[in-house]
Amino acid sequence: MFASTLSLGLVLLPLVSAAVHNVQVGGAGGKLEYSPEAIAAVPGDQVVFHFNPKNHTVTQSSFADPCGKKEGGFDSGFMPVPANQTDHLPTYTITINDTQPVWVYCRQASKTPASHCGMGMVFAVNCGFDDAPNSFANFKKSALAIGESLQAAAPPTNTAAPAATTWDTAAYGDYTIPPAPEVTPVTQAITLGSEVWTTTYNSYPGSPAPTPASAEGTVHRVIVGGPGLLKFDPPSISAQPRDVVVFEFRQKNHTVTQSSFADPCRKLNANGVTGFDSDFIPVADSITADYPTWNYTVTDTAPVWAYCRQKTPASHCGAGMVFAINAVENSERNFTAFQNVAKAINGTAASSNDPAPTNPVDNSAASVHTSSAVFTVIAAALVAALF
Ligand SMILES: *[C@@H]1O[C@H](CO)[C@@H](O)[C@H](O)[C@H]1NC(C)=O
Ligand SMILES: *[C@@H]1O[C@H](CO)[C@@H](O)[C@H](O)[C@H]1NC(C)=O
Ligand SMILES: *[C@@H]1O[C@H](CO)[C@@H](O)[C@H](O)[C@H]1NC(C)=O
Ligand SMILES: *[C@@H]1O[C@H](CO)[C@@H](O)[C@H](O)[C@H]1NC(C)=O
Ligand SMILES: *[C@@H]1O[C@H](CO)[C@@H](O)[C@H](O)[C@H]1NC(C)=O
Ligand SMILES: *[C@@H]1O[C@H](CO)[C@@H](O)[C@H](O)[C@H]1NC(C)=O
Ligand SMILES: *[C@@H]1O[C@H](CO)[C@@H](O)[C@H](O)[C@H]1NC(C)=O
Repeated sequence: MFASTLSLGLVLLPLVSAAVHNVQVGGAGGKLEYSPEAIAAVPGDQVVFHFNPKNHTVTQSSFADPCGKKEGGFDSGFMPVPANQTDHLPTYTITINDTQPVWVYCRQASKTPASHCGMGMVFAVNCGFDDAPNSFANFKKSALAIGESLQAAAPPTNTAAPAATTWDTAAYGDYTIPPAPEVTPVTQAITLGSEVWTTTYNSYPGSPAPTPASAEGTVHRVIVGGPGLLKFDPPSISAQPRDVVVFEFRQKNHTVTQSSFADPCRKLNANGVTGFDSDFIPVADSITADYPTWNYTVTDTAPVWAYCRQKTPASHCGAGMVFAINAVENSERNFTAFQNVAKAINGTAASSNDPAPTNPVDNSAASVHTSSAVFTVIAAALVAALF
């Protein structure tokens, strides 16, 4: 009799005193915060975290390292919630075991300038009083300081060239072209077997991943010209850093020369960047094998635009003899759009009559080979929608 009364008492005791504390994680307008930010709780209490839209965690840290996971601490894991979800929010519950402070942070984008913790998304149970060293204010202050140092270490955002929001005009005349996509600088370590590069690249919506396929790269063959042909074949390719594009020059007298989307028929020379140029590579009609080649090693994944700069007797570029690497086909700045700009602004005098070279010369073009371990890649940063 006595024993059963005692056990009943043990079961009932926590039920009477235990409270449930509800905490919102994130919230309206994508707020990066827990609400409330700090609570007091007694052993046996439960804290129920309600995950609002976005993609947050409830992860235990320590006062000394607000944005680092405490060894053996609890962690809800990522809880992605669609932006339009307003009810049936997922929850995560912790039970308070003692009167010690419990420090919590969101580990989304951890150790990056976008760190939620670094933006102050922290929470505490039973923290010190406002004037104590381990107050919530001091905890949040050191989280924000971590965020500031992560942002200071990040490459500067290019504020000089704000993204165009309206259609632009091409280099000449009033031909309209789509605005350039917004680019965002990103620094990333790329591992390839035993090699690791730290690369800085600009994110470019829709461009391929910056990871090279292999250290040697893939070889892409592009035929330039040929009897009666004013074209690159294929005219548009997708390639990754370290890939080599072998331009095989056929009959007539062509070049492959880098340009820009807005000025397709003129050699790129802007902001200290000079485009590549094979120079003229004439090939006599009598040549049927061992065509001369000129090679280009891909160093980034942003679109590379090129053309043939032969103007005699008429602009090859204006006739549509243009070429692209990594044009984003599902965007307004696709290969066809580029070719249309070339035809529109240099095509007025275009003609497919091409002079047959009378004195074919050997290919003296230089080959560009990038063996540097560090290169700049421009790649897509497909920012997670819920990020
Ligand atoms: C949220 O949006 C998605 C896609 O538009 C839709 O399929 C889903 O039903 C929506 N959910 C709610 C709760 O409105
Ligand atoms: C309470 O103890 C349980 C069991 O050891 C543990 O899983 C839980 O994380 C602890 N709660 C807190 C807030 O540390
Ligand atoms: C295209 O037109 C511009 C402006 O007239 C000129 O500077 C450029 O050399 C032309 N390019 C070609 C390949 O004809
Ligand atoms: C271009 O690369 C190909 C394949 O790697 C090679 O056969 C060719 O000799 C190279 N051409 C030049 C001009 O270096
Ligand atoms: C590709 O460019 C053409 C020509 O400017 C345009 O009509 C088409 O809509 C573009 N494609 C996409 C997916 O934007
Ligand atoms: C190839 O074209 C360029 C530019 O028009 C010209 O200067 C050069 O003489 C031509 N070479 C031959 C062999 O016809
Ligand atoms: C949530 O965030 C994590 C970490 O950034 C990511 O791996 C995961 O894919 C995200 N989930 C969704 C659905 O976006």
